[in-house]
Amino acid sequence: MTKRKIYLDNNSTTQCDPQVLDAMLPYFSEHYANPSATHSMGRFTRKAIEQARAEVASLINAKPNEIVFTSSGTEADNLAIRGISKALMGKGNHVIISSIEHSAIIHSLDHIKKWQMGEVTHLPVNHYGIVDPDDLRQVITERTILVSIIHSNNEIGTIQSIKELCAIAHKKGIYFHTDAVASAGKIPLDVKTLGVDLLTISGHKIHGPKGVGALYVKEDTQIEGMIHGGHQEYGIRPGTENLTGIVGLGKASMLAMNQLKQDECKKIETLRNYLEIGIKNRIPEVKVNGHPTQRLCNTLNVSIAYVEGEALLMNLDLEGIAVAAGSACSTGKSEPSHVLKAMGVEDKYINSPIRFSLDKNNTKEEIDYTIETLVKIVERLRAISPLWKEPKPAPQT
Ligand SMILES: Cc1ncc(COP(=O)(O)O)c(C=O)c1O
Repeated sequence: MTKRKIYLDNNSTTQCDPQVLDAMLPYFSEHYANPSATHSMGRFTRKAIEQARAEVASLINAKPNEIVFTSSGTEADNLAIRGISKALMGKGNHVIISSIEHSAIIHSLDHIKKWQMGEVTHLPVNHYGIVDPDDLRQVITERTILVSIIHSNNEIGTIQSIKELCAIAHKKGIYFHTDAVASAGKIPLDVKTLGVDLLTISGHKIHGPKGVGALYVKEDTQIEGMIHGGHQEYGIRPGTENLTGIVGLGKASMLAMNQLKQDECKKIETLRNYLEIGIKNRIPEVKVNGHPTQRLCNTLNVSIAYVEGEALLMNLDLEGIAVAAGSACSTGKSEPSHVLKAMGVEDKYINSPIRFSLDKNNTKEEIDYTIETLVKIVERLRAISPLWKEPKPAPQT
């Protein structure tokens, strides 16, 4: 019998939609000319890139000429941080981020600090993972050139009040970047309403291909590229374009917009809530990490006391259920998640998070199976834990 496979790790990556693959395929075979070539075959592929640029722009209500294609969300984040830091070197060198950013932001700034090219302030978050706008107001200095706050966190799903935070930075004439990789396709993103100057998205998180991302750069923003070469992507990101990837990202953006219009997210949220209630009702001593409502529709990060997250992950995997223990990027490391640490999660819950991230393809039947399986695994693991004590039944009144 083939083992069942239930994929609940969509914040790590999503399945490439068959319609995206179909859109990409001709650009591997038939239409392969260099988009910079002036012959008609080149003009054809150039047109495909410009169409994809318009499609990505429409997902976030930007102008097409404000989209810069990159190799990933990671590269787009690096470009935002390092590109602004380089361009504004004469003006200042201080960057403010939250303490729950993705490693693409954190490590990009570590690099800047290491080479003594700048200073970084990490804003605290409350126990739901929310940045307090007053904290931002207090740390802005004369030397601040950029604020970068994640739109929604990929581990816990908490959504920040980006519009308000951005307005604070703008009042002081400071650029604002947001990493919207986890949010894209799940909540409407409108760069005009948010007011941001820079915004990152990634193809493989919205049922597009891996290895392609985009940075929104508002018109007239001062930014310098990290690599040097030809004129592609306005000279900010030179190199012959990833034609197939870009076409795929364009198509995935259109599908993501349809998903938002049809309110597929509501359906995903209903299923996510069903999973959350199922776990809370059946397993004692669990804690949901993240904001109860200001949270991505598909994300459930739950800590189960006296059970290691990694042990849960492996046992679920043996039953055909794919989840993450913390963030995809920290999997394999044994130290607690920097996000949960920043939220001040208690010791008994900090090593036991597992993240379920759903998508439109998941079914109620899969969720029922997941709850049943999880209950059995937790009982088994707790039975051999020296710390676990069965809660006493409530006294009869
Ligand atoms: C919030 C966030 N930002 C950035 C990235 C990096 O994107 P990519 O995998 O395209 O490099 C990820 C990937 O996990 C992410 O979740």
